[in-house]
Amino acid sequence: MTAARVAADLPHLPDRRASGSSEVVDHSITTRQSIRAFLADGVERATIEEILQVAARAPSGTNTQPWRVTVLMGSARQRLSDAILKVHNDPEQRKHHTEEYAYYPTKWIEPYLSRRRKIGWDLYGLLGIGREDKAQMHAQHGRNYVFFDAPVGLIFTIDRILEQGSWLDFGMFQQNVMIAARARGLDTCPQAAFMQFHRVIARELNLADGEMVVCGMALGYADMSKIENTLVTERAPVADFARFLES
Ligand SMILES: Cc1cc2nc3c(=O)[nH]c(=O)nc-3n(C[C@H](O)[C@H](O)[C@H](O)COP(=O)(O)O)c2cc1C
Repeated sequence: MTAARVAADLPHLPDRRASGSSEVVDHSITTRQSIRAFLADGVERATIEEILQVAARAPSGTNTQPWRVTVLMGSARQRLSDAILKVHNDPEQRKHHTEEYAYYPTKWIEPYLSRRRKIGWDLYGLLGIGREDKAQMHAQHGRNYVFFDAPVGLIFTIDRILEQGSWLDFGMFQQNVMIAARARGLDTCPQAAFMQFHRVIARELNLADGEMVVCGMALGYADMSKIENTLVTERAPVADFARFLES
C-alpha cells in the first residue's frame, strides 16, 4: 500500500506537522501545466483510483462531495472520441451543438481579453498555425476530442440541482486530481471543449437526465518532444491580485 493510499484511508491521523518539505507539494503544483500531447503509455487502473481517492479529500460545502467522474480508457475512450469528432467535423451537425452553461462572458474586458488572446496566439504560434488558417485551427481544436492522445479521458459531471457553491467544490477536486497526478509523474489537461458536445456525451455515456457535463480532462504521460508542450503560460505577480490590510 502506498503512502498516498494510507493517507486517503486514514485521514484523521493526529500528526499535523508538515509531512516533509513544502518543495514536494510546490513542485507538483508548479510543474503542472496543460499538456496537449501525450505518450501512448497506459496508466494502471489502480493508479487512477488512487488519484481519485486522494483527490476526494477536497473540501466541499457541508461535505456534499458533488464530484462525479467517468473514467474512459481503451475502446470506451475511442468510442466517445469518434462520436464527438463525427459531429465536430460536420459543420451542419456542429451548429446544433452548443454549451449547456456559460464558462466565459459574452462581453470581454481587460485584463482577461489580453490574457485569453495571448495563450491562444502563443499556442497556435508554436504550432505554426496562422491567424487565417481556419482549417488547421479546427484540426487543433479537434485534438481536444481525442484527449490529445492521452490513454485516459475523464468526463466530470455534476447533479443538475446543485448550485454555484458545488461548482466551487468541484474545482477544488479537479485541482487535486491534477496535483495528485503530477505527484505520480502523470500529466493532465482540463478541457472545457467537451461542454459543447454535452448531448453526444450524455448519449454515449448514458448519463441520467439529472446529470450535467462539467468538463473533460486528459490524463497520461506527457510527450515532451512535442512543441505544444513547451508552451509556458504567464502569471501575474501576487501584488497584482492580492492586497494585504494590516492596520
Ligand atoms: C476548466 C478548464 C478548462 C479548460 N479547457 C481547455 C480546453 O478545452 N482545451 C485546452 O487546450 N485547454 C484548456 N484549458 C487549459 C487552459 O488553457 C490553461 O489552464 C491556461 O492557459 C493556463 O495554462 P497552464 O494550465 O499550462 O498553466 C482549460 C483549463 C481549465 C481550468
